[in-house]
Amino acid sequence: MLSETASSSNSSPQQQNEVISIELTEVLRRKRLLIEHEQGAILLLATQSGIVALDPTCPHQHVRSLCEGTIEGDTITCPNHGWQFRLSTGEALCGSGRLRCYAVHVADGMVHVSISTTLPRWMRD
Ligand code: FES
Repeated sequence: MLSETASSSNSSPQQQNEVISIELTEVLRRKRLLIEHEQGAILLLATQSGIVALDPTCPHQHVRSLCEGTIEGDTITCPNHGWQFRLSTGEALCGSGRLRCYAVHVADGMVHVSISTTLPRWMRD
């Protein structure tokens, strides 16, 4: 059963983080989870190199196409036009822009995702 809890805390005057916690076994079993959150969608992926969390919005056309992205190693490829991004950093490998990535911390059988409420500049403009 997917377990989600949310709480808020301030990390700096300019930036506020909200934390979502999910059972590790659920993430490993499902491999790919889309979580709807008031800050936006969060795609949680169990990859060969670890668990990553990102906004599934592709910077190309600003659609949630990365939910269906192909993952190879540290790379996710958008199914629409093939733009590629590094999962560990969000940087574009093919195309432009950057994915919005979230900090992931695993402890005591839970996956904790910190969500900055400060949007990157490309999402604000
Ligand atoms: S929408 Fe992702 S590459 Fe075009």
